[in-house]
Amino acid sequence: MAELFVNQAKQYADSRPSYPLQLFQFIASKTPSHNLVWDVATGSGQAAKSLATLYKNVIATDVSEKQLEFATKLPNVRYQHTPSTMSKIELEQLVTPEGTIDLVTIAQALHWFDLSTFYEQVKWVLKKPHGIIAAWCYNLPRISNEVDIVLDQLYSVISKPYWDSARKLVDENYRSIDFPFEAVDGVDHTGPFEFVTETNMTFDGLLTYIRSWSAYQTAKEKGVELLGDDVVEKFKFAWGEDVRKTAKFPIYLRIGRVGNA
Ligand SMILES: C[S@@+](CC[C@H](N)C(=O)[O-])C[C@H]1O[C@@H](n2cnc3c(N)ncnc32)[C@H](O)[C@@H]1O
Repeated sequence: MAELFVNQAKQYADSRPSYPLQLFQFIASKTPSHNLVWDVATGSGQAAKSLATLYKNVIATDVSEKQLEFATKLPNVRYQHTPSTMSKIELEQLVTPEGTIDLVTIAQALHWFDLSTFYEQVKWVLKKPHGIIAAWCYNLPRISNEVDIVLDQLYSVISKPYWDSARKLVDENYRSIDFPFEAVDGVDHTGPFEFVTETNMTFDGLLTYIRSWSAYQTAKEKGVELLGDDVVEKFKFAWGEDVRKTAKFPIYLRIGRVGNA
């Protein structure tokens, strides 16, 4: 699936939301030390740049070099291209040695992973017993009643055949995703915990966001343009005269502690 994010890497960097401070503060309050984070599937660093303000160092990895090209470069973030599956030796050489990580984050990507292999690696790199894994996804933005109707129709009906089956986990707000970790201090479950991120979107920004969908890319490869003239016209009419609108993306966080696993 990683190639789905290669062709629209620029659209992705331009149109995807970053995440709210409250989300990172909540996560950071659960790790006893703030030395090292592994942001897996960092894309163009949407989470890495915020983690860099709360943790001493961030290792941000992705299977797509093209995505990494568009990431914000910061002195305490090491961007690293990785293969989609890594042996322990590769993990140690490219990412980090065993038991060294305070926090593993995965933003809008856990649903793409082979979970049992990935969790084994997470458990290997995290400090025991207090190392934390935090994985979140976000769903369709809410923009205005009129725009939401057109967007929902495009998402749930027109683009439906082009989404990978893994997308169902996002549709279910990560409620059903396998997450074998202990509850962190102060709560009695691993989520999902809800947050929201807001962006100030232009009409072109909305179209760019849709073009960054993996389903848009898949449809295009099959000769189908999801943003045909008729759909764009419907969006234009629904959008109205505003130059910008607030788009609110609901976020769903799963968070857990590794324990002595
Ligand atoms: C939807 S994007 C999320 C990017 C970013 N984390 C964000 O919050 O917007 C999914 C990312 O997962 C990456 N990816 C997919 N499979 C991966 C794997 N096995 N290891 C690392 N990255 C992977 C893709 O290249 C893509 O950049």
